[in-house]
Amino acid sequence: DSRPRVFSGIQPTADSFHLGNYLGAVRNWVAMQESHDCVYCVVDLHAITAGHDPEVLRRRTRVSAAQLLAVGIDPKTSVLFVQSQVPEHAQGAWILSCITGFGEASRMTQFKDKSSKGGESQSSVGLFTYPILQAADILLYDTDAVPVGEDQRQHLELSRDLAQRFNSRFGETFVVPKPHIVTDTAKITDLQDPTAKMSKSASSPNGIIDLLEDPKRSAKKIRSAVTDSDAEVRYDVEKKPGVSNLLRIYAALSGRTIADLEDSYAGRGYGDFKKDLAEVVVEVLTPIQDRTAAYLDDPAELDRVLAAGAESARAIAGPVLARAYDRIGF
Ligand code: ADP
Ligand code: NA
Repeated sequence: DSRPRVFSGIQPTADSFHLGNYLGAVRNWVAMQESHDCVYCVVDLHAITAGHDPEVLRRRTRVSAAQLLAVGIDPKTSVLFVQSQVPEHAQGAWILSCITGFGEASRMTQFKDKSSKGGESQSSVGLFTYPILQAADILLYDTDAVPVGEDQRQHLELSRDLAQRFNSRFGETFVVPKPHIVTDTAKITDLQDPTAKMSKSASSPNGIIDLLEDPKRSAKKIRSAVTDSDAEVRYDVEKKPGVSNLLRIYAALSGRTIADLEDSYAGRGYGDFKKDLAEVVVEVLTPIQDRTAAYLDDPAELDRVLAAGAESARAIAGPVLARAYDRIGF
């Protein structure tokens, strides 16, 4: 495959992806299959860095994989696998940790944010070295492009630094990955607090739409989303963050432009707008839920797909790691 290689991963840290994950990340993974040679990973090694329950992790790993298949990741053309099934990730992370400065790792702001929120289990050494494991994830696949939002920019910068450092110390080994910028319009905010991003740690369950929740519930959440009092469907992130968020969701799910939606709802208030958007959400979620359920109802098939994915992943990561081992002197 001569197309550029893309790598991305998602943590199995919830029982469902939410609409922000879908529109901001996963849907773009699906689209990139048209133009890139794609490697996608459910990063369960990353998911144990802040404390976890084994049975919950096992379930969430499978549900995450099933959802990725359900939204359109094609395991015939992309490599889809579970990180812990490919031991090269942990091996690569060790090598990279030995060329990472302690001060350099300490500057990663996500660790500071996450560890300051929790107790001892929230500040494990694994959480501290998380960006180094992430660098291994990326570098093991000779990755050309990594889709990144603002929150992951610093981690990709570290991956690039480590690749360059390894190459200059030990000889050309790793491809230096470039960011594939995901546009701002993909940022989805909380339905009840449109100044905060939609997140699984949302303060209100009504602020977040889960891909796998009852679509009737999603419709209700859209209809009761926080907007403003001037009843004009217009895109203005500063003055109208709630309506702007609904417009972004509507545009992304329907394929219509925001300008076209503004025209359609001119002079009609928020009632029709929300009702129609609620219908669009239900239309998109229902088939995703059906396909996810089909994968979860056939555990043997899901296992087979993931085992084949892990095998394909190792066929790439194994030789890259062997190259690094050789350069290191192993
Ligand atoms: P959460 O913020 O809910 O914990 P994660 O950090 O696990 O979600 O994010 C998984 C992926 O989804 C990342 O690529 C992240 O950038 C993307 N993502 C998460 N929340 C949003 C959002 N509200 N809007 C757009 N993209 C998002
Ligand atoms: Na996040």
